[in-house]
Amino acid sequence: MTTSPDWLAPDRRPRRMRRTDAIRRLVRETHLTPDRLVLPQFIMTGDNREEPIDAMPGRSRLTIDRTIAECEQAMELGVRAFAIFPAVEASLKTPEATEALNPENLDCQSVRAIKKALPEACVITDIALDPFSSLGHDGLVGNGVILNDETCEVLAKMAVLHAEAGADMVAPSDMMDGRVAAIRAALDDTGHTDTAILAYTAKYASAFYGPFREALESAPVDAPDVPKDKKTYQMDPANTREASLEAMLDEAEGADIMMVKPGLPYLDIIARLRAETTLPIAAYHVSGEYAMIKAAAERGWLDEKECMMESLTALARAGSDIIFTYAALDYARWWREGLV
Ligand code: PBG
Repeated sequence: MTTSPDWLAPDRRPRRMRRTDAIRRLVRETHLTPDRLVLPQFIMTGDNREEPIDAMPGRSRLTIDRTIAECEQAMELGVRAFAIFPAVEASLKTPEATEALNPENLDCQSVRAIKKALPEACVITDIALDPFSSLGHDGLVGNGVILNDETCEVLAKMAVLHAEAGADMVAPSDMMDGRVAAIRAALDDTGHTDTAILAYTAKYASAFYGPFREALESAPVDAPDVPKDKKTYQMDPANTREASLEAMLDEAEGADIMMVKPGLPYLDIIARLRAETTLPIAAYHVSGEYAMIKAAAERGWLDEKECMMESLTALARAGSDIIFTYAALDYARWWREGLV
């Protein structure tokens, strides 16, 4: 017999379902398994060396041999997909990014070596010119602007080289108009009909890419006739409807997977695209998002594991099937230990 007034005796008590860990696990709606993670790898030339990246504690530029060793470790933990980014020597960078089309460049060598050592790994290459451009832009620069159609032609050739080297997926991250169609046509014309396109569909002009640009020394340079930022091709963070337009175009042009980037500040965009397409959606938990948690954890201000797990789970809850994260190895270990 209750003595509490009616307003203190609610009929519905959702807290019953939160009472114990066993119950919470029964009713949990989102399960992020390591299968859904992609580990980005920064690769450099040389043998058996690594260079820690200052603003990304725990992540380093690795030589190809060390990259393979880490990928192998990742695969044992259930992370089977890798996005590779070449840290190209400054002496090889030119304004036209010509090294991007060298079949012996670091990208192609890395893909061949990883696929040879780990044929079951899914290797995803980045299609954009910035790692190879001495100007630090994703596209060709002419008369102070980024040249759209000329860039698409180069990107399409780059994609064919990566496919020839054995890439499972190519991932245009450049935001040129029409690049997915150009890449699909070039791949199909050269017989690479099975190479998938993971399009960076809604890629915003974000300040959260800072640590990544440090890792590749790829920030736009300060020089006359070179745009200071990427705002004429990457999207305005204030825009939502424009993401739907990009998604409509990328899907029509032949994208197999669509990505939203960065991740946490753009959960609304992930949810929106999830509702608009049947294609898988990927989210990129970018370098700055990773760095923020690491830096606060180093000061004792945040719990790294809890914040990392919460961030990645939120990306999955919002609707991403696939998550690119620098914390993939850590997450997979927590998963194995039953901590997730
Ligand atoms: C460049 C590229 C960037 C990232 C992935 N591909 C940086 C940029 O657009 O300047 C950022 C990833 C990250 O911050 O983790 N094509």
